[in-house]
Amino acid sequence: MRFIKIIVLFITLQMSAQQGGMWIPSLLQGMNESEMQSLGSKLTAKDIYDVNNSSLKDAIGHFNGGCTSEVISAKGLILTNHHCGFSQIQSHSSLENDYLKDGFWAMNLDEELPNEGLYVEFIVRIEDVTKQVLEGITDDMTDREQQSKIGTNSNAVERAAKKEAWQDTRIKAFYKGNQYFLFVTERYEDIRLVGAPPSSIGKFGSDTDNWVWPRHTGDFSLFRIYADKNNRPAKYSKDNVPFTPKHFLPVSLDGISEDDFTMVFGFPGTTDEYLPAIAVEQTVKKVNPANIAIRGAALKVIDAYMKTDDQIRIQYASKQARIANAWKKWIGENQGIEKSGALAIKRKMEADFTQQLKVKGLESKYGTILPELERLYKEIEDVRVKRGQFVEVFVRTNELMQLMFRLSQMEAAAANGEEAFDKARASMLARLEGSFKDFNAEVDKGVFEGVMPLYTENVDASIYDKTAFTSLESAKKVLEGYSSEVLEKLNKDAAYSYAKPLIVEFYTELDPKFQALNDQINALEKQYMKALMEVLPKQRYFPDANSTLRVTYGKVKGYEPRDAVYYEPVTYLDGVIEKYIPGDYEFDLPEKLMDLYAKKDYGQYADANGKLPVCFIGTNHTTGGNSGSPAIDANGNLIGLNFDRVWEGTMSDMYYSPEICRNIMVDLRYVLFIVDKYAGVKHLIDEMKLVHPKKNKKKK
Ligand code: ARG
Ligand code: GLU
Repeated sequence: MRFIKIIVLFITLQMSAQQGGMWIPSLLQGMNESEMQSLGSKLTAKDIYDVNNSSLKDAIGHFNGGCTSEVISAKGLILTNHHCGFSQIQSHSSLENDYLKDGFWAMNLDEELPNEGLYVEFIVRIEDVTKQVLEGITDDMTDREQQSKIGTNSNAVERAAKKEAWQDTRIKAFYKGNQYFLFVTERYEDIRLVGAPPSSIGKFGSDTDNWVWPRHTGDFSLFRIYADKNNRPAKYSKDNVPFTPKHFLPVSLDGISEDDFTMVFGFPGTTDEYLPAIAVEQTVKKVNPANIAIRGAALKVIDAYMKTDDQIRIQYASKQARIANAWKKWIGENQGIEKSGALAIKRKMEADFTQQLKVKGLESKYGTILPELERLYKEIEDVRVKRGQFVEVFVRTNELMQLMFRLSQMEAAAANGEEAFDKARASMLARLEGSFKDFNAEVDKGVFEGVMPLYTENVDASIYDKTAFTSLESAKKVLEGYSSEVLEKLNKDAAYSYAKPLIVEFYTELDPKFQALNDQINALEKQYMKALMEVLPKQRYFPDANSTLRVTYGKVKGYEPRDAVYYEPVTYLDGVIEKYIPGDYEFDLPEKLMDLYAKKDYGQYADANGKLPVCFIGTNHTTGGNSGSPAIDANGNLIGLNFDRVWEGTMSDMYYSPEICRNIMVDLRYVLFIVDKYAGVKHLIDEMKLVHPKKNKKKK
């Protein structure tokens, strides 16, 4: 009997050790540290995060606020995804120098390409400041009073924080506003492009393979951080020098096998793991389908043009990838919620919660939260869907409407005087220069005809023939003169007068109504989070992702996507070749790669089985923003580069299931093989520290 109990305990511990979570690096001591070690990690919490000594965290940089990167040499070389460096690679590309298509490799420091606006930010220190931020907050305050007090408290904490002159501070809310952490950061702004494979490697499989396993993409690019002579952050300057990091990740050449420990260290963007069932149901049944339809309509047009015209292919590469990425993710998310039975599981949990409230005598304290959320979500449904559609059309897919939206903000600025208007106009002009570089009126008109009917009955594509905002010259003319003249011309423009009533409706009705309800929902969800942790204390609670540095860990593992199908956890170059379709838009391959395959010229990068590994999957709980995050082995070496999740598991942003949620990583040996054997850029390999943790262990 006792023996059985121990076995059961052991099994549940084993299971729970794999159930995901994105943890705060400064709080790993205790539960996380022992879970990680039970999965095979040899690392201590201090190896990962330490304020006084260098630790793994010093190698991890937030890449331009949306992706992750890691330092892999003593000279500031950083690795991230191809899709994270995509818009930089695109911006250096032209028909003559098509780096998107052919790849780019700097052969020495002088050839590395600067990137305006690009930055990498490191975390110096994380501090729990919950007590100070929530000081003086009482239950009898309204939400608004609480928020304003939290704001003043936060400002005071930031001002009092110890930091160097070149460092920044930021406070972020965790557990829906029940905890607060202060981050001291360092932002480097001279980041240069070092290398990128051709898209036929870095984006192999493109949209067909995106979010899909088995995967065969070499989704990486290389940049370098430059600093001033004192190794401090500085704007671009010819005199800047390669940055010396506090720590960089050694690269393991020994690779991984199934069940090996892995840890992913990066900046996950947003998750919503504690939503009530009604909210998830609304996302899946109403919001996602509406948005999927709009993006689907836009892609139909953009894809067709990109396939037939190289100029358009380059111009629309980033936009298309952005639109396609979420479109496909939402489709997978809907299927995963359905398949995992997430709604039923959440409802069951809510029933337990309600039941426990009775048992614990907490009904009067927390009993109204769920019914109230139920009511509010019903009330917000229509406006949430409509507002989402507005954003899809006016911000994400149609470029002319996007300009109109920005122009309306410029018009609003005029109310604050000529000076405010001039400032708004200057930023509008800069925006126009950028937009028209990659704009094709015919493509955008097609997109308009596709997406607009999904938003409004009032569709008039003839505006494209009359508006001044389909070319840079005529657009600039409208913006010349005093504000009164500009606004007069603007309001006579066909596209502007078409869009303005829709934009006004957004600002006066849709958005205020949405925000008012959403504020109430947020306040209740904060209470719900607190109540859940108090009422069902045995559940596993990790804070939702919020673009701060997190650790997630698991094992290399295959999975069963559907009945009778099992997916192996590792793919090889053989699989790349299997997918090869000569001349295809997504599955073409460079000849050099075919040659290397034919000769099996893999050098030191082959696996013990003689094959060249390409990608692998694991049970690490990741999300958007984790792109470019390092996959780290049990000893703190780099073994992979995170870039995606499997389609069946993309619902992990709302519900993590250890059975079907897997993150996808490029094997570092494939990255090195491409740099060394394919591109022949040996000096980059020499800069790195290559190690053999497994072989060394065997010898001992
Ligand atoms: N799905 C990955 C991520 O969310 C990779 C995206 C790359 N873009 C693409 N359209 N293939 O960002
Ligand atoms: N590709 C994603 C990114 O850009 C990571 C994939 C995911 O969402 O897990 O961050």
